[in-house]
Amino acid sequence: MKKTTPIKVGIIGIGRAGYEMHINELANYRNLFQVVACCDIDAERRKLAADATGAKTYDNFADMLKHPDLELVSIVSRSPDHLKHTKMALKAGKIVFLEKPIAMNYAEAKKLKALDAKYPGKIFLRHNRRIEPAFQHVREIMQSGLLGKIHLVKLHRHFFQRRKDWQTILDCGGGLLNNWGPHLVDHAIRMVDAPISEIWSDLQLISSLGDAEDHIKLLLKGNNGRVVDLELSYGSAITMPQYVVYGNRGALTCDGEKIILKYVEPNYKFKVGEAERTTPPFGAVSYNPEPIPWVEKTIEVAPPSKLGMGDIYKCLYQAIRDNVAFPITLDEGVEIVKVCDRIRKNTAYEYPKPGNIYKFPPENS
Ligand SMILES: NC(=O)c1ccc[n+]([C@@H]2O[C@H](COP(=O)([O-])OP(=O)(O)OC[C@H]3O[C@@H](n4cnc5c(N)ncnc54)[C@H](O)[C@@H]3O)[C@@H](O)[C@H]2O)c1
Repeated sequence: MKKTTPIKVGIIGIGRAGYEMHINELANYRNLFQVVACCDIDAERRKLAADATGAKTYDNFADMLKHPDLELVSIVSRSPDHLKHTKMALKAGKIVFLEKPIAMNYAEAKKLKALDAKYPGKIFLRHNRRIEPAFQHVREIMQSGLLGKIHLVKLHRHFFQRRKDWQTILDCGGGLLNNWGPHLVDHAIRMVDAPISEIWSDLQLISSLGDAEDHIKLLLKGNNGRVVDLELSYGSAITMPQYVVYGNRGALTCDGEKIILKYVEPNYKFKVGEAERTTPPFGAVSYNPEPIPWVEKTIEVAPPSKLGMGDIYKCLYQAIRDNVAFPITLDEGVEIVKVCDRIRKNTAYEYPKPGNIYKFPPENS
């Protein structure tokens, strides 16, 4: 068996993501990672982290960066602090695993690119939904040609939540576009699978208690003619399938667990190949009597990679130690931020107080 050299990791931000995701995921890969340091401004959170990992804890990030063994830093602080913390960690010679949103806007994303040029190969993006099983599997079916040429993809993540935390407040870096947005905008860009030629978007505030958007509608058109129609919403009490894909030889829907397929076998050739200018006979309801030999089946979501979202740290280990390509590149992450910026600029959404129209970015930013 191949010998592994565990990566010594420190985490900044022992919040919902730092504690419930990063620490839990790292616990599944104790042979690959050792959590040696954790930083949070909250003493209770530091105690939780120490109890769960045995790591040394810090109330100050600059102090944590002086830990002599630290090789990798996971940045799980609030979104507006991501760039600042990345810069500090890189300057201290560390590898960075950066949570989404990787930047608050495209100007910040360009600064990340500059940092990458200065410290090459040190920034990895935690876009863990890139390896979400249903996304991987649906995309693999799309690319296989089973459904023919794909013309329309509908992506839905519908919830109804009256959230009231900082993720709902604009000047805290909140809003659904910074929260779930980067994951789903990434999915939408991948599923266009061509350079984007048109973008239409709408942001609204429906049910959350802050002042930031909690409902996103996005249409992307690629120069391959394909349209991806995304709805990501905390204001949708009735849900739709996560994926609906239409091609010229079939379609699929997927709820995240199962994929329902309806398609014509790829090697089947239709007999009637041309339209006729003559008047059709009476009773020819479909104007083409040739039957369509549909195959209909339901399969479990099971992507060939067998990776689940919790395996992102395994991918990170392989990238750092074995030089295996990481699932998402910095350029892809930067493109997501660029599209999010366009979405904000496209939209002026109405704040509940009459006449108060918010424009992005907020006037004082
Ligand atoms: N990839 C994902 O699936 C995913 C899921 C959830 C959150 N996130 C991202 O993770 C980040 C954190 O989100 P969260 O839900 O855990 O937030 P949270 O508010 O629950 O946690 C943030 C933590 O950071 C600490 N903190 C704040 N400023 C600090 C500082 N200067 N130094 C040290 N500690 C500091 C807070 O005390 C808190 O414990 C966000 O950027 C969010 O977008 C990603």
